[in-house]
Amino acid sequence: MENRRPLIAGNWKMYKTCSEAVETAGQLAKLVATATDIDIMIAPPFTALAPVADVIKGTRVALGAQNLFWETEGAFTGEISPAMLVSTGCKYVIIGHSERRQHFGEIDNTVNKKIQAAIQHNLIPILCVGETEKERESNETFSVLDRQVKKGLEVFSENDLKTLIIAYEPVWAIGTGKTATKDQAQEAHRFLRTLLEKSFSGTFSESTRILYGGSVKPNNISELMAMPDIDGALVGGASLDAKTFSEIIHF
Ligand code: PGA
Repeated sequence: MENRRPLIAGNWKMYKTCSEAVETAGQLAKLVATATDIDIMIAPPFTALAPVADVIKGTRVALGAQNLFWETEGAFTGEISPAMLVSTGCKYVIIGHSERRQHFGEIDNTVNKKIQAAIQHNLIPILCVGETEKERESNETFSVLDRQVKKGLEVFSENDLKTLIIAYEPVWAIGTGKTATKDQAQEAHRFLRTLLEKSFSGTFSESTRILYGGSVKPNNISELMAMPDIDGALVGGASLDAKTFSEIIHF
């Protein structure tokens, strides 16, 4: 338990120009200056990473990216390498977000390569998993989570995955205002932790942070964080406004 320091992460998706991102990041850093018992991350679009890194330097807020490509460099038009992210000051990288799986052909195999690339460059990977509404209705939630975690983490040792963070994000709860109930979220988190125990070890499963994501707001964060297997949140819409996001951070 001790290693599972809470993390509240903001995924800004394809929102904010450079100046907007810098403004929000600056406001946020001030609002969360006293939040010393929690880790905080924001993931702006690639174009705003470097200017946001300057504003949050030396504050409580760390920088993350929303995606990466696994190659070190080369003729891969439009892609961003792990070393490029590191050079902008990124500490975290979100991998396999459902929007990437849904719109950009991300599959478990590419997720796996991206996790490997992140680890090699000392970026903390946040592996996103979660079922669609249809999968939940047909009782496939656990089999989907099982597949996404096993394939996403295939070939890695517990030692490789020391910094790994998992984000459980039911697709039907993302951007819809429909949060999973605290019990639905806890049930999925418990399933994921047990899966980590079976695939790796009890020590590993007990020390791996599992975040919840999907319509997290200031008014539902406390009950989610009170659940024994929820170690933080990955927040989309409600992370775009500094004041609202800081309320979540100060839950
Ligand atoms: P949401 O997005 O908070 O807007 O539902 C969460 C996410 O996609 O990470």
